[in-house]
Amino acid sequence: MNTANPFILFLSQICICTIYLLQLQREPSFIEDRLKLYEALKKEHDALLAYRAANQSKPIKIILTDGKMAEGESWKTTPYQLAVGISQVLASNAVIAKVNGELWDLDRPLEGDCALELLMFDNEEAKAYNKFKCRILNEKVNTPTTTIYRCGPLIDLCRGPHVRHTGKIKALKIFKNSSTYWEGKSDMETLQRIYGISFPDNKMLKEWEKFQEEARNRDHRKIGKEQELFFFHDLSPGSCFFLPRGAFLYNTLVDFIREEYHRRNFTEVVSPNIFNSKLWEVSGHWQHYSENMFSFEIEKETFALKPMNCPGHCLMFAHRPRSWREMPLRLADFGVLHRNELSGTLSGLTRVRRFQQDDAHIFCTIEQIEEEIKGCLDFLKSVYAVFGFTFQLNLSTRPENYLGELEIWDHAEKQLQNSLNNFGEQWHLNPGDGAFYGPKIDIKIKDAIGRYHQCATIQLDFQLPIRFNLTYDGDDKKRPVIIHRAILGSVERMIAILAENYGGKWPFWLSPRQVMVVPVGPTSEEYAQQVRVCSEFFEAGFMSDVDLDQSCTLNKKIRNAQLAQYNFILVVGEKEKANNAVNVRTRDNKVHGEISLSSAIEKLRKFKSSHIPNVEEEF
Ligand SMILES: *[C@@H]1O[C@H](CO)[C@@H](O)[C@H](O)[C@H]1NC(C)=O
Ligand SMILES: *[C@@H]1O[C@H](CO)[C@@H](O)[C@H](O)[C@H]1NC(C)=O
Ligand SMILES: *[C@@H]1O[C@H](CO)[C@@H](O)[C@H](O)[C@H]1NC(C)=O
Ligand SMILES: *[C@@H]1O[C@H](CO)[C@@H](O)[C@H](O)[C@H]1NC(C)=O
Ligand SMILES: *[C@@H]1O[C@H](CO)[C@@H](O)[C@H](O)[C@H]1NC(C)=O
Repeated sequence: MNTANPFILFLSQICICTIYLLQLQREPSFIEDRLKLYEALKKEHDALLAYRAANQSKPIKIILTDGKMAEGESWKTTPYQLAVGISQVLASNAVIAKVNGELWDLDRPLEGDCALELLMFDNEEAKAYNKFKCRILNEKVNTPTTTIYRCGPLIDLCRGPHVRHTGKIKALKIFKNSSTYWEGKSDMETLQRIYGISFPDNKMLKEWEKFQEEARNRDHRKIGKEQELFFFHDLSPGSCFFLPRGAFLYNTLVDFIREEYHRRNFTEVVSPNIFNSKLWEVSGHWQHYSENMFSFEIEKETFALKPMNCPGHCLMFAHRPRSWREMPLRLADFGVLHRNELSGTLSGLTRVRRFQQDDAHIFCTIEQIEEEIKGCLDFLKSVYAVFGFTFQLNLSTRPENYLGELEIWDHAEKQLQNSLNNFGEQWHLNPGDGAFYGPKIDIKIKDAIGRYHQCATIQLDFQLPIRFNLTYDGDDKKRPVIIHRAILGSVERMIAILAENYGGKWPFWLSPRQVMVVPVGPTSEEYAQQVRVCSEFFEAGFMSDVDLDQSCTLNKKIRNAQLAQYNFILVVGEKEKANNAVNVRTRDNKVHGEISLSSAIEKLRKFKSSHIPNVEEEF
């Protein structure tokens, strides 16, 4: 072994690089022609807009819904920019705008003085717009170079991103000569975007249908085997961590959290990975998140892989009448989540398309919020203390576009403040930064290298119980509140953060290299192997190896094991064999000396279950 960075060594050990040759299908050639046409028309339009922004822009006044006046510049300022100016939350929850009563893309520049309204998802027109979007998304086909949305016979809408901010389907117009569709006036005055392309002849249609059929079959095969899907979607930059020791890290972290769940009266559940899109419509994911969901057809209905656990947990809550005596109900789930992130955003273990969270949802009464939040904060503190993370807390309260009753918000926010005050750590108030469906506590951890990461979540939700009509106490129909909470967040991402935090020096309990047994010479090799496979050692399930490389000197073997960051190195020679003992050293070359095998194992067992850092010093 060389003296390379131990962390890199660790990574190279734990990584497998799966080389997967994907059979990419070619889409029919006319699609390419049409996309070219689309690009040409779009370029023309973009040039027109750029010209106007440069040469015809003038200050304009925009009247907002609350009567306030904002200023902007014609052909430059967009509704989205104005929304961001008001609040980020507002901007991210707006679906579409209305300008002088006309539906207007969020990123379409304003053209003059106007009245502007931002439509949230609960607005009827925004809903209709979403429905239109969903109908398109229902028949989404990914080709190697683009995403094509099918929207009824003979019309194929091309290229997702252009559909994203689209208004009324009625506005689609036909360019008879080229069969190109776009929205806006035919003189291109307000052309925003060209949406789609139709098929002028049957031959093209047939060719297209054949391609679609093949694509659909291919998708079905992939979905049929989740594992394959996983490899397929994680092929793009990043993630290749699934060797046995990656699994060891994963399981150790999850078991650690499980112990805490057990102490804190959480019930672990396993919910399905695939649900009908009707469920996602109820939860609102279909309207807001479907572009990030992997969906497919089964018996003419659309299903999708879950990107979050909450809707499944709502079904569990709702499957029978609930009494206040059952509250708080704390459902924990390590379920596999899939999110279709853009390939350009994928990165190592930190941003992947398939991951698991230490996710839990607490269903409680309004009055129980304070106590539950206190429990969440306690939980978080004890987990982060084990990793040596310090953390920052912010309370984000009611935003302007909140949904629900003011009284409930006030009551909940008061309780959150009480919990934070009693918790005894510093916290900071971010007024107006909560989600529209409930206030939240933002948490950032600080790692050993001084970097901040957001992993944990504590988020109240007043809306999901309404969407799922969750009630308790039968006829009284009281609404529970849901607390979404996670501490590690994505377990995959947490593994990446921990790997960097420890710089390869994993604490013993979490270490994928806990023990290296090193024989002094060839005559001790048999005993070295006996040590590693003896029943107590084996049953304790340590991550251990034996160095049987006869070309290395004893010192070199010890050095190699230290560089590879084995927490403990057990050296065995004739003397240790005679005494049924081992000679213990650490990766930092602290020599603890000879100790009987049984008491060494006893100590290691204790270290393993205690989660204490730096046990190497205390052996
Ligand atoms: C603005 O107008 C001038 C003169 O007509 C033209 O040369 C220039 O290209 C225009 N700017 C843009 C960005 O089109
Ligand atoms: C189709 O017709 C429009 C308007 O009549 C014209 O501007 C456009 O260039 C034509 N497109 C093609 C591809 O011929
Ligand atoms: C968990 O439930 C048990 C039995 O109902 C109770 O005694 C204990 O106090 C609860 N613990 C917590 C942390 O809520
Ligand atoms: C808390 O809010 C402050 C100011 O808005 C911000 O700088 C900080 O990053 C936030 N911390 C967390 C944990 O979100
Ligand atoms: C909501 O649940 C209550 C009580 O379980 C029931 O009486 C009511 O009909 C439900 N409402 C809807 C819209 O399903």
